[in-house]
Amino acid sequence: MVQIAPSILSADFANLGKDVKKVSDAGADLIHIDVMDGHFVPNLTFGPVVVKSIRSYTDKIFDVHLMMTNPADFIEPFVHAGADMITIHLECADEIPTLISMIKKHGKKVGISIKPSTKVSDIIPYLPDIDLVLVMSVEPGFGGQSFQKTALNKIAELKNLIGRKPVKISVDGGINDITAPACILAGADILVAGSYVFGARSYKQAIDKLKG
Ligand code: DX5
Ligand code: ZN
Repeated sequence: MVQIAPSILSADFANLGKDVKKVSDAGADLIHIDVMDGHFVPNLTFGPVVVKSIRSYTDKIFDVHLMMTNPADFIEPFVHAGADMITIHLECADEIPTLISMIKKHGKKVGISIKPSTKVSDIIPYLPDIDLVLVMSVEPGFGGQSFQKTALNKIAELKNLIGRKPVKISVDGGINDITAPACILAGADILVAGSYVFGARSYKQAIDKLKG
């Protein structure tokens, strides 16, 4: 069954801990944490201290998505803050093999994300060494954007490339009750959803609806 990862980018920042607990109790499988550096993307969010402060509100997997030009310096701080899985961008400026080994050295799961303009084939060399590919279905930086349908072909292409390897496919951006079934059909294992879940009156109903 597909797993749901609500993105706290759309949570109530004034009550972040409570919102993380609420969405966990509502059936979230992972908590998706969007870290933006104001450079790789034109927006700023939060750093390790904030992640550490919400760690005690849930025991769900912390899925940390680093939208950073130079993530290398922040891998250790995010591990110590409680990250279970760290996703870096293929388009970042640091060496990808170095980042993969840094994350693995701490015993954490490794993800690589690709922007809408990045080809799926660029990820092939890293597939044997990673746990997850995060396909961006919007331009990273902001919640609430419309789903780009080209992501569906990318998911299907990836699924084919992954074959029997233990690599999960996650999709991030513009996920709602209309786009979720198409992503599941194309082969997504995890759906990241920010505004759809946190904008709903009932988090549980929203999560159940995405699960289909
Ligand atoms: C965008 C982030 C997403 C974002 C998704 O840069 O990576 O995780 O929060 O938000 P929605 O679901 O509102 O498109
Ligand atoms: Zn994200």
